[in-house]
Amino acid sequence: MNILLTGGAGYIGSHTALALLESGHVISILDNLCNSNLSVIFDIENIAQKKIKYIDGDVRNVGLLSKLLEADKIDAVIHFAGLKSVRESFEKPLKYYENNVQGAISLLEAMENTGIKKLVFSSSATVYGNPQYLPIDENHPTNPTNPYGRTKLQIEEMLRDLSMSDPTWSFLCLRYFNPVGAHDSGIIGESPIETPNNLMPYIAQLAVGKQNLLKIFGSDYPTVDGTGVRDYIHIMDLADGHNVAINYINGKSGFDIINLGTGIGYSVLELVKAFETVTQSKLKYKKTSIRDGDVAICYANAHKAYELMSWKAKRTLSEMCKSAWEYEIRKIAK
Ligand code: NAD
Ligand code: WQD
Repeated sequence: MNILLTGGAGYIGSHTALALLESGHVISILDNLCNSNLSVIFDIENIAQKKIKYIDGDVRNVGLLSKLLEADKIDAVIHFAGLKSVRESFEKPLKYYENNVQGAISLLEAMENTGIKKLVFSSSATVYGNPQYLPIDENHPTNPTNPYGRTKLQIEEMLRDLSMSDPTWSFLCLRYFNPVGAHDSGIIGESPIETPNNLMPYIAQLAVGKQNLLKIFGSDYPTVDGTGVRDYIHIMDLADGHNVAINYINGKSGFDIINLGTGIGYSVLELVKAFETVTQSKLKYKKTSIRDGDVAICYANAHKAYELMSWKAKRTLSEMCKSAWEYEIRKIAK
């Protein structure tokens, strides 16, 4: 298939591009590089030894998108383009609604104009808010606790409404849990522009000396060791999930939501220990107070993905740590 990845130069999009290229799909990427680098496009081409079409552009440009969808004879779109910082979304909510919600509206207008009606959307487990029960399945109530999460939920609702108004649309919302790690080559991975807010990239930078100390946010949660528990999923498992999802929506119509997680929760300390074991390093950390907005425990019920798409995550926590570390080491050596 000919697949357009909006935001395909970013962390999840770039790994997904590789998985799709490996399966023989033809890829176009549209990205405005507001949180990524052009070099990633060349990295993808080098790893895959295949060409991709890259368009430097904004997803809010309906005219550009309409032309692109037609010119590249696109069959389906994966919509990654979006802003994703929970913290920034509190400071600049309008920026988030404008980019994420308006971005989705513009994309859908362009798709409608050109009759392309298959879309996989990058949603997030953050739409669930505080877990009312665990593991979290797709029927769990949604109640996002931050503006970023609310933009994701609004887009989901928009897709649902659109599919009710016109049943020929095919929409699949993938709610990711905590994607971590890097491609096996160590060439692409997670590369936040500023000091990482997320645990794994922070730990990887700590291990190579770019950070001094990990602050563990909360040590008194009702968990195995008092630290927060999350469902970390290897980025290449997540990428494979998109590959499977694209085949799943092909020839189908309607609206659906699927969690992409492993179904296993690990605490911060368990992740730290796994990282230390795999990399034979010692991480300096200090237990501090909880981070505002954090929940104690969050992990997926991942059964629906298996029942509908025969997909489940395969890679272990050690593999996640190893790949995140190797990517960081390689960056230092460059
Ligand atoms: P990322 O920031 O690495 O990638 C997003 C890409 O979109 C970037 O390359 C950025 O330049 C591009 N972009 C943003 N706004 C754009 C616009 N208006 N026009 C064109 N390009 C634009 O983020 P990621 O981690 O790869 O996340 C991809 C998607 O998955 C996002 O929508 C994010 O909200 C969602 N998501 C991410 C996580 C996570 O933990 N990484 C979890 C759940 C959901
Ligand atoms: C994981 C655990 C922290 C950093 C975020 C977004 C969510 C989704 C995924 C997009 C928690 C602890 C962290 C640190 C720490 N993104 N931690 N010290 O918060 O589960 O999810 O990314 O949709 O929307 O909120 O991920 O990696 O930040 O935190 O102790 O320096 O690590 O408290 O328990 P989170 P995270």
